[in-house]
Amino acid sequence: MDTPPPTTGAPRAQSLFRNPVVIAGALITTISALLFFVGFFVDLFGLHTNPYLGIVFFIAIPSAFIVGLLLIPIGLWLERRRRHQGLPPSLREWPRLDLNRDRVRTIVFAVLVLTPANLMIVGMASYKGVEYMDSVGFCGQVCHEVMEPEFVAYQFGPHARVKCVDCHIGPGADWFVKSKLSGARQVVAVLLASHPRPIPTPVHDLRPARETCEQCHWPAKFHGDKVEMFREYADDEANTESVTTVRLRIGGIDMAGNPRGIHWHVAEENAIEYIALDAARQEIGYVRLVEADGEVTEFRAPGVTDAQLAAGERRGMDCVDCHNRPSHTFARSAERAINELLGAGGVPLTLPFVRREGLQAITGEYGSQDEAFAAIGARLRGFYQAEYPEVWAGQQADVERAVLSLNDLYRRNVFPSMKVTWGLHPDNRGHMEFPGCFRCHTDEHATKDGRVIRQDCDLCHDIE
Ligand code: HEC
Ligand code: HEC
Ligand code: HEC
Ligand code: HEC
Ligand code: HEC
Repeated sequence: MDTPPPTTGAPRAQSLFRNPVVIAGALITTISALLFFVGFFVDLFGLHTNPYLGIVFFIAIPSAFIVGLLLIPIGLWLERRRRHQGLPPSLREWPRLDLNRDRVRTIVFAVLVLTPANLMIVGMASYKGVEYMDSVGFCGQVCHEVMEPEFVAYQFGPHARVKCVDCHIGPGADWFVKSKLSGARQVVAVLLASHPRPIPTPVHDLRPARETCEQCHWPAKFHGDKVEMFREYADDEANTESVTTVRLRIGGIDMAGNPRGIHWHVAEENAIEYIALDAARQEIGYVRLVEADGEVTEFRAPGVTDAQLAAGERRGMDCVDCHNRPSHTFARSAERAINELLGAGGVPLTLPFVRREGLQAITGEYGSQDEAFAAIGARLRGFYQAEYPEVWAGQQADVERAVLSLNDLYRRNVFPSMKVTWGLHPDNRGHMEFPGCFRCHTDEHATKDGRVIRQDCDLCHDIE
């Protein structure tokens, strides 16, 4: 076919593309699309295991892609403004858009095909990006040092298969925006190293617990008691054991359908609200109970003033007011940790004074976990070599096993770089190391007419 002779003077709309910003945009878009495909296929074949690569492929590259796409209209607009000001096109040489020419036709056709493909890429990338940001790897490993204590402890907890986001972030668009905003703030804090050490607890914008927990647990179906055995060991040569058996009145609902026992607080029939006087919710100044028949009962801590209550945090009681460490559970104290370790057979009880020596080893002040591991080993080996050479000679393997178990205990509970140490985070179940149940059950939180929240030892359990 005959091509008509080219006309002189390019039409305006065409030459708007002759702009460096537009060209840069097109290049960025194309390159990042290619890179994204590489990443996507690498991921499909299961080759991407590193969370940092995830950031690159599913966040950085798609972001570049979108920036590229945005640059194109921005460049067009800049160029148009330039022309309005009577300036010549930024770039003089540009092929004419003449569909009679094969090459031009190919380009136009390519653009028409590529646009839907580009949109697909954005869709796929953002889906992958969101999915990736919801993964445990993203939450636990990307800001490695910051989340390490929770990430490590999480893997040993009963909920190691429940994703971080399932408890921390609710479903729906509002949670998405909220979490991404606070996430962005956190990233900045990590980059500037201005984040708190340790990360404070409680978390004030946690997803409402009943929404989370009741997907799997239904307290109305709980019944009966739960028996727990607490083993303790003395600091003597024989590491003497003593056992307390506690029969906890878990409750839920009784045969007549009435709420009772420990889960009475979260029964549908009852609503409990409280006011905490401190940020850690360890000091409770006021408790308000509304029962099924609408009867309201108000308890106040002794001596608390109206001004204190007005300044406190008011909160409806739910699962995490007791189960505040359902996941990433740290030992409540070094003593409890070592008792549990001995009880579980992690350290041979035949080693003389192993409880006392082990406890002192894991509670030393160390600058890093590696320093602690070296010191724990040196202390135990040194002790048996010096004090019990016959034990060292005959039971060296047991000593080494004890060293490994103690290192492991330390590794899960103490993180010097984040200033997380024994007993830092309160655990509200029970009442031994932390006030826990006794934040309210004081025998002193009282109504005006003298009814109190009771501390009778058999209200919650039988002890054998
Ligand atoms: C089963 C629910 C659940 C899961 C799963 C979970 N968390 Fe938590 N997390 C909580 C609760 C509840 C708190 C708040 C404790 C409080 O309010 O006293 C919390 C608190 C935190 C805190 C504040 C500091 C602290 O230790 O209290 C961090 C950080 C944290 N979680 C990180 C994570 C990370 C990272 C993961 C995944 C590896 C994760 N969480 C998984 C329930 C959960
Ligand atoms: C996705 C399901 C799921 C969700 C959501 C979930 N749990 Fe669990 N939870 C489990 C399973 C499964 C176990 C039993 C684990 C085991 O026996 O090792 C368990 C165990 C427990 C236990 C007993 C732990 C122990 O050491 O014996 C408590 C307490 C508990 N969950 C509380 C909670 C609370 C509080 C929440 C909400 C913050 C919650 N769970 C959310 C599945 C879930
Ligand atoms: C008043 C404090 C309190 C509240 C509120 C509470 N729990 Fe518990 N729960 C306990 C105690 C104490 C235990 C027994 C110790 C343990 O297993 O951790 C327990 C045990 C459990 C268990 C283990 C049961 C078993 O038989 O092993 C699950 C699961 C559980 N709670 C889930 C929940 C859920 C879900 C909620 C919220 C709807 C909730 N709890 C609210 C105190 C509470
Ligand atoms: C925020 C305050 C608060 C906390 C914390 C709290 N309780 Fe209670 N609890 C109450 C109130 C209020 C009552 C009702 C008192 C009354 O009716 O006289 C109650 C009643 C009970 C009852 C009697 C239920 C029945 O069958 O009638 C048990 C059992 C109980 N609590 C166990 C616990 C345990 C175990 C913990 C800790 C894991 C705990 N509570 C923590 C406020 C609290
Ligand atoms: C409001 C409920 C409540 C009351 C009242 C209560 N306890 Fe407990 N107690 C608990 C819970 C819950 C646990 C289990 C903690 C756990 O699972 O680790 C516990 C555990 C114990 C243990 C086991 C040891 C340990 O290391 O945790 C002892 C001992 C104990 N209580 C003694 C008492 C005595 C003595 C009283 C009376 C002054 C009392 N309790 C009153 C809720 C209560």
